[in-house]
Amino acid sequence: MNTTTRNTQAPGAQPLFLLQDGTTVNFDTDEVDGQMAMIDRKLAGAVVTIFSGPINPSAPGLVTVEGNSTSYRLTPYPVNGRDVWILGIKVSGSLLDRGRSYGVRVEGFTAPDGTLMRPANFTVATKPRTSASIDSETNDYLAQRIAEEGIVLLKNRGNVLPVRHQQLNILGSGLAKFRVTVVGAGKTNARHTVRLREAIEEHGRFSLNTELADFHREHGDSIPPDDMLARAKSSGDLGIVVLSRLSGENMDNSSDPGAYNLSDGEKRLLSIASETFSRTIVILNTPYPIDVRFVDELGIDAVILTGIGGMLAGPAVVNVLDGTVNPSGRLTDTWPKKLSDIPASQNFYDAVGGGTPYTGDSDVWIDTVYEEGIYVGYRYFSTFGTEVVYPFGYGLSYTTFRTRAVAVGTDDDIAVQCEVSNTGDCAGREVVQLYVTKPDGIIEQPALELLDFAKTPLLSPGSTVTMELVVPRRQLFTYDEAVGRYVLVPGEYVLRLGGSVEEAIEIGRFAVEYSIASDVVSHRLLPQQAIATLSRRDPRGTWPPGADSGVKTEKNAFLPARTTWHVTQPQKACLDGGNENLSFADVQECPELVAAYVESLSIDQLARLTVCAQPAWGMEGTGVAGVLARPEGLDLPTFQVADGNSGVNVKTPNIGFPTTVVLASTFDKDLAYDMGRVLGEEARKLDIDVILAPALNLHRHPLNGRHPEYFSEDPYLSGVLAGHYARGLESTGVGACYKHFAANNTETARKRNQSVVPERALRDLYLKAFEVALSVHQPKTVMTAYNAINGCATSTDAELLEGVLRRDFQFEGMLMTDWGSYASADVVDMVAGGNNWITPGSADDEFTAPIVAAVQEGRLSERRLRQSVSYLLRVIAELTAGSSSTTPDVSPAGRH
Ligand code: BGC
Repeated sequence: MNTTTRNTQAPGAQPLFLLQDGTTVNFDTDEVDGQMAMIDRKLAGAVVTIFSGPINPSAPGLVTVEGNSTSYRLTPYPVNGRDVWILGIKVSGSLLDRGRSYGVRVEGFTAPDGTLMRPANFTVATKPRTSASIDSETNDYLAQRIAEEGIVLLKNRGNVLPVRHQQLNILGSGLAKFRVTVVGAGKTNARHTVRLREAIEEHGRFSLNTELADFHREHGDSIPPDDMLARAKSSGDLGIVVLSRLSGENMDNSSDPGAYNLSDGEKRLLSIASETFSRTIVILNTPYPIDVRFVDELGIDAVILTGIGGMLAGPAVVNVLDGTVNPSGRLTDTWPKKLSDIPASQNFYDAVGGGTPYTGDSDVWIDTVYEEGIYVGYRYFSTFGTEVVYPFGYGLSYTTFRTRAVAVGTDDDIAVQCEVSNTGDCAGREVVQLYVTKPDGIIEQPALELLDFAKTPLLSPGSTVTMELVVPRRQLFTYDEAVGRYVLVPGEYVLRLGGSVEEAIEIGRFAVEYSIASDVVSHRLLPQQAIATLSRRDPRGTWPPGADSGVKTEKNAFLPARTTWHVTQPQKACLDGGNENLSFADVQECPELVAAYVESLSIDQLARLTVCAQPAWGMEGTGVAGVLARPEGLDLPTFQVADGNSGVNVKTPNIGFPTTVVLASTFDKDLAYDMGRVLGEEARKLDIDVILAPALNLHRHPLNGRHPEYFSEDPYLSGVLAGHYARGLESTGVGACYKHFAANNTETARKRNQSVVPERALRDLYLKAFEVALSVHQPKTVMTAYNAINGCATSTDAELLEGVLRRDFQFEGMLMTDWGSYASADVVDMVAGGNNWITPGSADDEFTAPIVAAVQEGRLSERRLRQSVSYLLRVIAELTAGSSSTTPDVSPAGRH
């Protein structure tokens, strides 16, 4: 390898250099994967730098960190129509010290024309450790509490847990890789982080076998030498294996070893651990369900699921291990025996065995046919009697509980009063779950559906609490495809109460007569083709074949926007002809004036406002995702939005909550509210007006890359918790955003993926989650999705936006597209279809010009554009009025 500087540059060629030459790049060792893993999972754990021009990939260069050669990934990535060459230098696991500067040298790469690059030196500075006092009053403490309450104890044979005063022998690379956040929009930028190793070392009540921990940090999942294992066994006969997984936006996970399935190294280590130690515990630091058949096969004694637990995940796990905290989380999803047991599996693209993992930028078009119909998650397993490893709602405790229904009222709303007693010998919290079995008649019904849930306060041993669950009768309705309405199916309804979907026992039954819901709904988003769906009447004959899903060779666009829906919505209160003397300050004072204000704006101004003006989406600047364009001459305020399911996803460090699925595992509506409230408080300090969360697509399949950002496989659990989270968030005056509306259940080629969904499944599952959330709290904003539903892109679909969202669900806030939806949908169609803000847009006229032209050509009515901007500006006025004041919680009394 040539490491000297020789100018072999061809005459006239551009010099090749590294953009970071001479600069300092920051790296947060706690992030493990880093943001670029969103683009390419192989860039996980890498510091990423860019070459000034194309590289010859077959002429390798040399990369050293502090003089030691290190591995790298060189890959082209398309940006604005040309390939940018990215160099990912693997540093995670090797830059061990925080707050230190490491010298990196890159040399020897050549351009395709033979030009040798100029050697580059730059510095990687690791983020310093910051400490904070975390007492029960601080926001950070809430992050720890949610991480603790979201931990699910899956197995505890012989009460192996809790363990005290013990040496912890931790096997596997999972300790070094222990993840506290995901990649993509759900990523956090926490002001400080305590991962598992530090938590154990600082905790003092355990000692860590550092010999073993250091071995795995260096050698990954290799098997430790016999003498090392013997020493470990003799000083504490307890083995722990940590399994960790990466997940996030832009790419789905696969069933490859090391993803859904265990890698060979992990399998070997689990066997060694269970053979070596008399007690073995597995910690699942996994963002999505993985194959856990090994638990019984190898006789693992205890399993805890930590999920991805945020900035204080480490202390949370330690507190559960030693019993300071009694776990009370419950599974928000079914953990199947085999991936192929899930009826959606044949219709979910799995890039297993070297298949192409199509990202958001892939230009393939994919269909995902929902042949499983209503049978998602436990709705399938409980109906078809297929055994699972762990059922929905399941989770153990260090104590035991007895739950008894003491009164069941079914006259109007369903009211169940129950007593929960702690019958064990330590304090704990129980989750009570109420299910219904509907009469399975002309309309096929799953065996069970979650109606409501409640979590007890911390119950001391021997104490009892009485809880009441009240379910509006409306929740018993089913969507009837035959009439296009919600109906109450006549017959007998059975109520069941218990600690999980499998434990729930009958507490009452009642008969109802047929009725049709009073809200008038009609057929919308009808599939373009007949979809044969799974049926309990003929399980074998209807098992989804998946033949119509996958990459389409003949297709290169979504269908044109649906024309069946005519916009008949009346204009919001509007002064005829507008009023030129109105200023935006007047609108901030009285949002009812918005329509009049909008009347005074020119078409150019309207188009400019419609397009978000984010120059460089998150990669530069402060990290905000979108900003309002402020045409000259208008007194518009600054208005910026940022991602943040679990923290404000900007470059200034702030709170780092667990991922959404961990929050959901708490089954605690108050914690969801508090998490939203704290996020709102943090966002306000950072001048963020809207947090682009909560995300509430369903867990249709565990391989969805964004599984950790979403709540559950159950629409009611998802919707209720999302609603409480949003209500908490908006109590601070910061806007929330329900996203991605709707049926956005895969990341594979996400901008060109069509969800082909039966009408019933849409209504009773995918739209239901949003409907429930909206009934708890009407947020200021909703984001559409990248995918199409039954032909038409969600970002352009008036049937979905005007019909379902505004008319059926009574949404009055502002609608925005998902970022860059115009890659596969038309900007003008988006506005015509009901979207009010096109994101991330640009500061130039690339996206405004087509809107102006469409109005001039009559393709987009001026009235439609004004109405659209009214929605947008009304929300902006409400959120920015008296920017230091908070908006009171004005949500209508929720149904849940
Ligand atoms: C994601 C959204 C996110 C947006 C802004 C998109 O790629 O799908 O969830 O809010 O980017 O960052």
